[in-house]
Amino acid sequence: MLRRIKVGIIGGGGIGFTHIDALRRIEFVEITALADLNEDLALSYARKHNIPKAYGNYQELISDPKIEVVHIASPNHAHFPQAKAALEADKHVICEKPLGLNTEETSELARIAERKRMVTAVNFNIRFFPAIQQTKAMVQENELGDICIIRGWSLEDAFLHQTDYNWRMDPQKGGSSCVVATTGCHWLDLVQFTSGLTIDSVCADFTNVFPIRLRQREDKAYSPVKTGYEKKSTPLEEYASILMRFNNGAKGVLTLSEVSAGKRWDFFLEVSGLKGSIAWDLSQADKLWVGFRDKPNQILLRDPALFKPKVRGSIGAAPGQIEGYSDTFKKHFSRIYEYILEKKHLDKIEPDFPTFRVGHNIQSIVEAIVNSAKQGKWEKVMINR
Ligand SMILES: NC(=O)c1ccc[n+]([C@@H]2O[C@H](COP(=O)([O-])OP(=O)(O)OC[C@H]3O[C@@H](n4cnc5c(N)ncnc54)[C@H](O)[C@@H]3O)[C@@H](O)[C@H]2O)c1
Repeated sequence: MLRRIKVGIIGGGGIGFTHIDALRRIEFVEITALADLNEDLALSYARKHNIPKAYGNYQELISDPKIEVVHIASPNHAHFPQAKAALEADKHVICEKPLGLNTEETSELARIAERKRMVTAVNFNIRFFPAIQQTKAMVQENELGDICIIRGWSLEDAFLHQTDYNWRMDPQKGGSSCVVATTGCHWLDLVQFTSGLTIDSVCADFTNVFPIRLRQREDKAYSPVKTGYEKKSTPLEEYASILMRFNNGAKGVLTLSEVSAGKRWDFFLEVSGLKGSIAWDLSQADKLWVGFRDKPNQILLRDPALFKPKVRGSIGAAPGQIEGYSDTFKKHFSRIYEYILEKKHLDKIEPDFPTFRVGHNIQSIVEAIVNSAKQGKWEKVMINR
């Protein structure tokens, strides 16, 4: 029988649940504890999800010697202290994106992980859609030719109203950017992963639609007195236009928005080479559009018979049975846990999932984008160790 790996989760909010749901589908993983800053929430969440232990602080969870792996699903500002403490306690760590608030934090985390030889991952889960794995394989096998143009966007309307407020808009909690750190970092990881290229320099223009937002006061749930809204300074961008130059000379353009009415999550990536193009749309994640100049274009469906042999292992459901966002968490975590189970880190086998080193790389690009927008000029991406 396989040994069961014991896991603790920090953060019982929206994405904490998706972690629990995905982990429950991996047979050799056992969730033994949950921590949240809000102890009442930790207790009720743990009870609801049948998790044996609940804590009101993460230190208690990390000090449990039976826990081997810590998942961090708390807001961005908590990632650094929590990941650092977990690594120092010899735990493997799976952290939500972005890895930290800035590159000082992310480089330190990557260095600690390497010194301690622990397994680390940043949850850039979109990589694990089978169509994305297929895109990468087609680029690797030179089916698109030399890549020259890359386009994309990530558009939402979650922050369209002045009364939309959450911690992502607070620089102390979200970091120096809003939309770039929230959905942009997924796209930046995806473009480098699929194209095999690196982003060399960027030129960005930001719009901060509401420098002041109205936050609902935290009234007691059952109080008849509602105290209304308070003004909060929200200086970060909800909209960004970004030009990119890649290391092979290819050019890219990315639009990011949290204020596009009617867009719940319109996420798109198109990679064009001298032989062909591929386009992928999250809302139709099982399809790839493949474009040619000299023969008819194709719609390639997610089907083991049509995808490349090395991609077939990433397909979870039969053709026609849609694979969704939460499936990518399961696939990502399965790879990490198989790696841990087989102790591949001790043999320094290259992980096939995004490590803290990747998280630091993406944070370096985010920082270059923020600096470019501040200074109004092209900015080179500097990746310091
Ligand atoms: N991979 C993805 O697609 C994806 C999607 C959504 C969110 N995220 C990331 O997940 C993280 C959490 O986002 P969310 O949407 O679940 O947020 P959320 O606000 O819904 O939940 C955060 C939870 O963390 C708790 N918390 C706050 N500070 C804490 C601390 N210091 N220690 C422990 N718990 C603390 C809060 O009480 C809350 O329960 C963010 O970093 C976000 O970027 C990733």
